[in-house]
Amino acid sequence: MKSPITFAIAGFGDRGSIYASMQNLWPDRMKVAAVADIRPGRVAMAKQLYGLPDEMCFSSAEEMLEKDRLADVMVVSTMDRQHVGHAIPALEKGYHVLMEKPISPELSECRRILEVAARAKGRIVIGHVLRYTAFYNSLKSILDSGKIGEVVSVCANENVAYWHQAHSFVRGNWRSEKETSPMILQKCCHDMDIYPWLLGKTCDSVSSVGQNTLFRPERAPEGAADFCLDCKAKESCPFDAEKIYITGKKTGLLAGYQWPAAVACEGEATEEKAYAALRAGRYGRCVYRSMNDVVDHQQILMHFTDGATMVFTMCAFTEDCYRYFKAMGTKGEIEADTKTNRIHVRVFGEPEEVVDSTKFAGDLKGHGGGDSGIVADLLDILEGKAENTGRTATLESALESHFLCMAAEESRKNGGARVEMDAFRAR
Ligand SMILES: NC(=O)c1ccc[n+]([C@@H]2O[C@H](COP(=O)([O-])OP(=O)(O)OC[C@H]3O[C@@H](n4cnc5c(N)ncnc54)[C@H](O)[C@@H]3O)[C@@H](O)[C@H]2O)c1
Repeated sequence: MKSPITFAIAGFGDRGSIYASMQNLWPDRMKVAAVADIRPGRVAMAKQLYGLPDEMCFSSAEEMLEKDRLADVMVVSTMDRQHVGHAIPALEKGYHVLMEKPISPELSECRRILEVAARAKGRIVIGHVLRYTAFYNSLKSILDSGKIGEVVSVCANENVAYWHQAHSFVRGNWRSEKETSPMILQKCCHDMDIYPWLLGKTCDSVSSVGQNTLFRPERAPEGAADFCLDCKAKESCPFDAEKIYITGKKTGLLAGYQWPAAVACEGEATEEKAYAALRAGRYGRCVYRSMNDVVDHQQILMHFTDGATMVFTMCAFTEDCYRYFKAMGTKGEIEADTKTNRIHVRVFGEPEEVVDSTKFAGDLKGHGGGDSGIVADLLDILEGKAENTGRTATLESALESHFLCMAAEESRKNGGARVEMDAFRAR
């Protein structure tokens, strides 16, 4: 395919704008040609950033999809329950599709798009960005080298971080599974994608437990108000919106962070706009009264066909947001985390080897380089420089992570009952 490869962005929110911005990294290879968003301000921003003519700016993905194909690739970066509805017509029109995860929270929708994709000329890639990071690729080559022998047991954590939970999963977009997805699918389809891929193993059963322990009305401290700015208990509350969005050292606007304040402000954040947003908007609400229904911690116990086992924990109550991984093999162990990006390899009886995966990274921004990595991989494929690169998150391969998360959620809702994966996949 001829360069630059053109992109139409359906949903110019956080993710859509990140993918579009890759044009700045590779201006000769990629060009944003069209944009659609239901928020006029976002369309205006894209129009200005990418010099788009009026006829390539649309007030919804539906409107954009009424036109003949406008670009080579459509990025589907609308919300969880919209992806399939936007990606299917895009595939039918001959676009290649880069679709955000989750594919869909509904199994039937996942199957529907699989059928359409099988007949389509275009390719479809799912936003499993972790596969493209130096960290996970280094980890995979060490595991594949057999240094630690056969992996028998794994323990992995997704540390969500208290401020991220409060922002995204209590106050924000993903607070309600009915509106978007269960948290295990929303947050951990990445994990359920990456671990079977890293280990080269197939899971044959899962069971899962977890709940929303803290973020419920009956846990509100004395003096709590509906909005943090009016709250008598805000001083000692780590979830206080003023701290998270404006004054806090970790994520606050005054400490130099645009995100997450920009999400609350629906655009570039200023102190004045942020206070106005917190006074009445949902990001200013008390975390104990936010009409949220997703879990704040969940664990999955996985059993693989070769007898290996894995315990995976997702938890809101961590200081920082990162992933931890420990594999225990017949000849050694590996311990690694995405906070330090270091991989500790301990072959039994030998000195520890520490691999700094940042040495192999071209870019560490945006999911440890995964955001640019997935676009680079897609460009390589479309330019004919590579076929499926082995790490490419195809629809078929991404579906397995969705089966695992959906099965785990079913188990959780059934008190942790074991779900057999073969039967689940065959449904
Ligand atoms: N791959 C990852 O690591 C990753 C990380 C975060 C989010 N996501 C996924 O990306 C998706 C988008 O998340 P986000 O954080 O960008 O959310 P967002 O709210 O910032 O962006 C969604 C955008 O879609 C727009 N939109 C809604 N309906 C539309 C329609 N009919 N036509 C056109 N635009 C429409 C919204 O106005 C908004 O601008 C979600 O499904 C989320 O799960 C993936």
